[in-house]
Order: sequence, then structure tokens, then C-alpha cells
Amino acid sequence: LSSAPKHVAIIMDGNGRWAKSRAFGRTLGHHEGAKRVDEIVTECADAGVRYLTLYAFSTENWNRPAAEVTVLMGLLVQHLRALDKKLVKNRIQLQAKGSLYRLPDFAYNEVQRVVDLTNYAEPRMTLTLCLSYGGRQEIVDAARTIARKIEEGRLTSNHIDEDLISRHLYQPNVPDPDLLIRTGGDYRISNFLLWEIAYTELYVTPTLWPDFNLDELHKAFKVYTQRERRFGLTSEQVIGAPVSNSYPQPS
Ligand code: IPE
Ligand code: IPE
Ligand code: MG
Repeated sequence: LSSAPKHVAIIMDGNGRWAKSRAFGRTLGHHEGAKRVDEIVTECADAGVRYLTLYAFSTENWNRPAAEVTVLMGLLVQHLRALDKKLVKNRIQLQAKGSLYRLPDFAYNEVQRVVDLTNYAEPRMTLTLCLSYGGRQEIVDAARTIARKIEEGRLTSNHIDEDLISRHLYQPNVPDPDLLIRTGGDYRISNFLLWEIAYTELYVTPTLWPDFNLDELHKAFKVYTQRERRFGLTSEQVIGAPVSNSYPQPS
């Protein structure tokens, strides 16, 4: 499928509401949501997506009731233990980003095991789990690293530009997302990738994450192909019609 976006990012939201509407506990919603991850991961790889970034747990999610956080950490580990074979079979590389030091040891170790196991030089797809992840924290961490380099005399303030900041984020080698999908119907970013989504196409669906099936995924891809990405230009420029010279800028 050539129409697939190169980098897809997903805010997997709505597990709790899915369970509540069935008078189940939230845990069951998270269980069902975890199953969708498997299907979406392999389908994206088969469709030609090169990078898939999933928001699994935010820095703010640490403030949920302890019992729910415990369930989510347990599910993560349980899930990775089963997912690893599938990743190997499909040559999908796992990466994780966020304040990973905050994860309990058993979760951190399992994530690291699968990251090491799938460290391919040329993966078919890179799957990134955002765990204990905050978009603002990512920028804070980048600012700190840059400040340290300035203190050590390895950089000066004149070196700071957009490219330098991008190169100090958690994944300097991953291009910005082309498509950001949010399930659960809320029109907000919830501290997901902030810097990286400057020109990402946004797709919000009311479908709750446990109901997000492959049809829903392809619907999102189809909408994406119908968008015109202008990156600040005019439509005429984008379609390659003859246009006059651009405005001169001081160098
Ligand atoms: C998303 O589902 C999973 C996580 C945030 C970990 P929620 O648990 O946020 O589900 P809702 O939004 O309450 O329905
Ligand atoms: C966003 O969902 C985080 C994840 C999907 C991991 P939330 O449920 O935490 O977002 P808010 O609280 O509704 O903004
Ligand atoms: Mg939610």
C-alpha cells in the first residue's frame, strides 16, 4: 500500500470509557486495548509504514490511582512477553522513549530486553512505545543537554537552531510524524509529541481504542491521502504550478 504515511503516531485513548459502557472495570478496557496494539503494529508494517509511535503511558498518567498504574505496568510486561516473537518474525524494531527511569524495574527490564532483541540494522519498521512520556519533558531534557554542552564549551548559544534542538530530542534519527491519530474523540494533544508534530496531519476519531480495528486504520490512511500538506506554502506552489520568486530574506 503505497499511500501509507511514513510515520504514524497514535494516542490510544478510550479504554476506560469502552469498559464503562459495558459495565466492566477499567482493567478490562486496558486488556482489550492491548490486543489492538498487536493487530495495528503488524498491519502498519505490512502497509509500508516505516515508523509507528504509540502513546502508551504519559507522565501525567502516574497520577492515576496506584491500582490502575500497577495494572498498566503488568499489562505492558505481559504484552511484551507475547509480542516479542511477532516483532522478530516481522523484523520490527522496538524502541521506547520517555522518563523510563520512573518505570518499575520489572517493566524497565522487560522493555530493555525486547529493545535489545530487536535491534536490527535495517528494520522493516520501527515501533516506538512512549512510556512515562511527556512532550514537555522531552524538550526540557533536550534543553538540559544543550546547556551542559555550552557549560563545557562544546557549543555556544549561536549554535542553537531548530535542527540542533531536533537532534537533542529522544530520537534524533526518527523523522517527524506525518499522521497523528487520536482515538476516543478528544481534540487535544495531552502532552504527546509537541515539537515533532509542528506539521503533522491530525486525525481524531470518536472510536474508542479497543474498537479501533484495521478498517478504522485504513479509513485514517485514506483521509490522510486526501489532505494537502502545504507547509506554509500556497496550494499553487504545492502542486507545482508556475509561481513567482519567493521573498528575499536577510541571510
Ligand atoms: C487510554 O485509555 C490508556 C491510557 C491512558 C493508559 P484511558 O484509560 O485514558 O481511557 P479513558 O480515556 O478513561 O476512556
Ligand atoms: C493520553 O490519554 C495518554 C495516553 C493515551 C497514554 P489520557 O487519557 O491520559 O489523556 P487526557 O487525560 O484525557 O488528556
Ligand atoms: Mg483517556
